Amino acid sequence: MSSFRHGVASGDPTPDRVVIWTRFSGSPAQDPAELRWTVAEDDRFKAVVGSGSVTAGPDTDFTAQVDVGGLEPATHYWYRFEAPEGDVSPTGRTKTLPAGNVERVRFGVVSCAKFNAGFFNGYGRLADRADLDFVLHLGDYIYEASETPPANQTPGADIGRPFEPRNECVTLADYRTRYAQYHADPDTQAMHAAHPLIATLDDHEFADGAWRGGSDNHDEQRDGPWADRRAAAFRARREWLPVRLPDPAQLDRVYRSVALGNLADMFIIDTRTGRDQPVKGSAAADPARTQLGHVQRDWLFDGLRKSRAKWRLLANSSILGRTWARGIPKELHDGLAWLKLINTGGEGPDADQWEGYPYERNLLIEHLARENTVVLSGDIHIGMALQLERAGAPGKSIAPEFVTASLTSQNLDDKTGWGYRIKSPAVEREFLAALSNVLWTDMDSHGYMLADLTPDRLRIEWWFVDTVLERTHNERLGASAEVKAGSPEIVNYNFPTT
Ligand SMILES: [Fe+2]
Repeated sequence: MSSFRHGVASGDPTPDRVVIWTRFSGSPAQDPAELRWTVAEDDRFKAVVGSGSVTAGPDTDFTAQVDVGGLEPATHYWYRFEAPEGDVSPTGRTKTLPAGNVERVRFGVVSCAKFNAGFFNGYGRLADRADLDFVLHLGDYIYEASETPPANQTPGADIGRPFEPRNECVTLADYRTRYAQYHADPDTQAMHAAHPLIATLDDHEFADGAWRGGSDNHDEQRDGPWADRRAAAFRARREWLPVRLPDPAQLDRVYRSVALGNLADMFIIDTRTGRDQPVKGSAAADPARTQLGHVQRDWLFDGLRKSRAKWRLLANSSILGRTWARGIPKELHDGLAWLKLINTGGEGPDADQWEGYPYERNLLIEHLARENTVVLSGDIHIGMALQLERAGAPGKSIAPEFVTASLTSQNLDDKTGWGYRIKSPAVEREFLAALSNVLWTDMDSHGYMLADLTPDRLRIEWWFVDTVLERTHNERLGASAEVKAGSPEIVNYNFPTT
């Protein structure tokens, strides 16, 4: 059996560096192993540009990563690892970020990969694309859930992909086992071997509804201190994802900015691990409440103000635009609440989203109110295109927000059992009628977004796979839209009428 059962991966590229990753699975005696790594300009490793050795041992769950420097911008590289006995890993391909005057960047956008809800066909289709600079992951890379979840979470799809471990992840060993399961998946491996990853996180890398001091299902009596669980989840993530700490002194810092030459500054934020606990009703409006935490907030607003790039992209794991309005028909309430677009009962927004932190949300929208600023979001499991507006000023667009469908996590037809595109289109029509800021949504499909950015425009495409209930290669262009430089309006769109 291969010594590299979990494949290879790369991530956090810069113009001259990239992190390469693997896991050594050839040490039944649990002894640390010295792995040779090699990076080359070609897939036959004729033109080697870097090599060395790295230890994979029990301290890191036998994962190994190398932050390879001295590379050229906007260049493809190939990399692999070699075990002491000579066993060689699969070959990965990666790409450094462009620098200077950048004319085009093209990347995939994904979120919400629930293992027991579906096959990761979307990852496979991203892997097939040769023309991407990177894959942006907006969170829920893993789900920590148990195979038989509590009543407030959706059960798996019963497709022969039960979670490992079966229980909800609580300990370091649990989270490590879960990441190992994900990295044993062939589509996950293909995506990682094809493109570098740039990732933020959402709540399920930790626990459902995670906030600074706990989560919806975390019970200190049963599960122990939240701080221990949070640290374990962060540690497993650092071990199993190809990530560079933005601040090596701060193990739980995820937020950072990524420069795409003079074309764009991408701000990658963490809306879960530093936030105050979600609260219902008018208490949410307390100006002291924060979703970002004050340090991240100051960093973000300062960065948005100072950015001189042509575009600004906010990589955001919690929907920012308005998804609740008075007058949404009562018969829609259950479905929209399951999707976390409105609260249970329909009297207000879902407290888990940006609308649950209205004071800070308004501040953020003010900072996004400058030319060529776009929000890319995940978390709600459905594809959506919407316009951001200032609170109380409907009809005037501040910036566009594009939301990717989940890779596999259940959305409306999965949660209701209605069948694909049978009853959901009627719900979508009513939802669009009630929310003038939402241009389009598809509440059933799964897949990913493609973002294609030039100085003149950002083009977004929603690609949907046929199904996630079996392995398939079929995908289709579900919708597309553009934003032109100089205007916040969503234009040139092709939104299927439902
Ligand atoms: Fe999710």
